[in-house]
This record gives sequence, C-alpha cells and structure tokens, in this order.
Amino acid sequence: MPAHAYRSALLHSLGDPADVGVAASYQYIADGLLLVEGGKITAMGDAAELLPTLPAGTPVERLDNALITPGFIDTHIHFPQTGMVGAYGEQLLDWLNTYTFPCERQFASPAHAEKVAGIFIKELLRNGTTTALVFASVHPESVDAFFTEAQRLDLRMICGKVMMDRNAPDYLTDTAQGSYAQSKALIERWHGKGRLHYAVTPRFAPTSTAQQLALAGQLLAEHEGLYLHTHISENPKEVEWVKALFPERSGYLDVYDHYQLLGPRSVLAHGVHLCDEECARLAETGSAIAFCPTSNLFLGSGLFNLPMAERHKLKVGLGTDVGAGTSFSILQTLNEAYKVMQLQGARLSPFKSLYLATLGGARALSLEDRIGSLQVGHEADFLVLDLAATPLLEYRLKQCNDIAETLFVLMTLGDDRVIERTVAHGQVVHRR
Ligand code: GUN
Ligand code: ZN
Repeated sequence: MPAHAYRSALLHSLGDPADVGVAASYQYIADGLLLVEGGKITAMGDAAELLPTLPAGTPVERLDNALITPGFIDTHIHFPQTGMVGAYGEQLLDWLNTYTFPCERQFASPAHAEKVAGIFIKELLRNGTTTALVFASVHPESVDAFFTEAQRLDLRMICGKVMMDRNAPDYLTDTAQGSYAQSKALIERWHGKGRLHYAVTPRFAPTSTAQQLALAGQLLAEHEGLYLHTHISENPKEVEWVKALFPERSGYLDVYDHYQLLGPRSVLAHGVHLCDEECARLAETGSAIAFCPTSNLFLGSGLFNLPMAERHKLKVGLGTDVGAGTSFSILQTLNEAYKVMQLQGARLSPFKSLYLATLGGARALSLEDRIGSLQVGHEADFLVLDLAATPLLEYRLKQCNDIAETLFVLMTLGDDRVIERTVAHGQVVHRR
C-alpha cells in the first residue's frame, strides 16, 4: 500500500480525563496531517511542520469541514440480534425468551449466518465502529460467518460462540463438553489469524452449569491472549436468580471469579447493579465493564454508576448491546450515556465521551498499544467525520466556540450520517 497523507483537523484521546485532567486528556490539531503507510500511522502532527518532510510524490488529500478521529470501539454487541433491534415491551428475562432466543435459533443455518454477518459488519462500518467485541450465537457456524467477513475486510475484531447448557430452549443449548470442544476448534481456526481474536463466551451465569463455567476457565488457561465475554448484574430479577442458582457463592461476580473467568481480557457487559466490593474486585483483576446505555434504558434495566467505576479505577468501555441496545451508532450511544449521567446528578464531559468511545474502549480490550488513538505506530483505524452532515448540524456547529463544544454537539446530534469515511488498517472500508 503506497503512502497517503490526510490534511484535516485531528482529534484523539491521550488519557482518561478522570486520571489526567481534561487538558492533558486529548490532542486537537486544527490543521493537521496524518500520514498512513502499510496500514499504520507513520506520522501525525501540524500540517505546516510535516508537509515539508513528506517524500516527494506523496499524495496529500485535503479534507475541509471535517474531523479525523480514531475508529470507534464497541465493547459489547450481539451479531445474531441484528434482526430484532427494537422489540416491544419486555424486560431482560422475558425479552430473552420472547424475542432473543427464537431470533438466534435462525443461526443454525450457515446461509443465514453469512447473510447477517455481511449486514452486521456493514452496519458497524457505516457507524464508524472499527473494532467490536461480539457475541455470536451458540452455533459455531455463526462465528465462522462473522470471522470470514471480518477477515476479508482485514478488521481488528473479537468474537466467540455462546456457551449455554441450561435454562434456555433445547434448540439453543449445547453441553458443557460439547461447548468446550466447539470453542477449542474455533480458537484453533481463528484466534490470532490476521487481526482476529477469540472470546470465550458463556452467555451469563444463569445459562451455564458449574461444569460449563469451569471448562470456560480451562479454555482461558490453555490458550494465550483469549478474551472472556459475558454479562453481569444487568437486571434486578437476574441478580436474584443468580443468587438462587449459586447459593454457595457470595454474589454474582463471585460466580465468575470462582471459575477463574476474571482478568485483563475479561469484559462483562452492564454491571448496573454492582456493589462497591464487586467494583473493587473487577479493578483488582484488571477486568472491564461494558457500559451499554441505550440497552439499559430500553430494557428498563437501570442506570450505570460511572462515577463509582471511576472511584475504583475500573476499566470501562462503551457497548451498543444491539439488539437490546437500539443503535449501532457510538455517537448515539454517547448521547444516551450523557442522559444516564444527568439522571444521576452527574456529568459526562465531551472528552470523557471521546475517551470511552476510543482509547478507553481500547484499554478495556487491552489493545491500547495498537488501536484507540492516532499515535504514530498504531494501526490506521480512523474516521473522517463530516461536520456538515445535516443542515442542522452544519448550522449548530457554526455556533460552537471550541472543540469541546463541537465534540459535544456531534455526540448529541450526530449518528451514521456524520461518518463520511471509515478506514481500517489503512484501507477505506466505508464511504458515505
Ligand atoms: N443477558 C444474557 N443474554 C443477554 C442478551 O442477549 N442481551 C442482554 N442485554 N443481556 C443478556
Ligand atoms: Zn448483551
């Protein structure tokens, strides 16, 4: 791939504003240059300084009324739920039985899985998501379909087969030993291939026997660099159910802890009803929570306590959680995250939002050495945002006095229409 330079405003996160303060948490360059070569960022900085250093003949593309940011990172989403976004009327446990399980049943068909994998990945890229941690269905074929498409586009993606051996319809359950063998075969086929990683994926504590959770822990111990992806403490009835199913454990998190499922590549979705001790234990083990505001509001699950997570220095990423979540757009997810904070008398600053969508997500996935910012040497996964995507956005952004205000309005009014271009590993994978 020949070198290509983009001349544009550039914005990326350098750290969590909660740790380093707002001023040190980001870098904004009004007239910047981003040089991309061989799928990597090879230079970034002020255009005036970098232009004279470019090798003769390097094409320079000028982007006006645009902003380049890192690609967005979605730390929790379900690929087989693409066809059931916005299902009416239920909270978590009834929603699963009424809508989710019948929808996921269709993924027994490899042809169906292939079709939806194409739709799903296209939708991620249309919305500027370049990396996602993805639940497939219980069927290994669904993982093959997802990874085949992700590999074709050379994306950095993480996925795994659902492990689920009880408390679900017969048509959708596996067995402890069967799920171990199927997961192992998928790990051998996909983990570490190109930019792909495998996630051991027990759905949540209620749908796994103790034996299955123990085998999930065994898989993690047997292979380097695997992820653990599951749900935790999303809904009060779910939390009570886990206590009844595992009376020998001290609480929901202790179930996962006991089976050695926590660690720096473990991502647990929701955590709306965690207590202080559980947050402390998550932080101690380096595990991350995926904050899923559109889902938590849609299913009436509750309000995630981000300030509590910050107090414990717990890693937090942002999850759309489609199909309980109602949008593939990380911008719209931030719009709802802001409101979740408002309802708790707290704030979500524009730079904390940028952090959650990019570098914070990369840290939640322990991938911050490769993605999540525009640092030289990082993989060239970035977005061109169109600051005139709609007439209202164009007019509203003209009233903004600084990049903080611009960023906040982008997150309030913006969605897939703002994503003019998505670049992954240096290649354009979506253009509006
Ligand atoms: N808990 C267990 N399974 C699911 C799921 O598919 N979606 C959500 N939001 N929560 C879950
Ligand atoms: Zn989920």
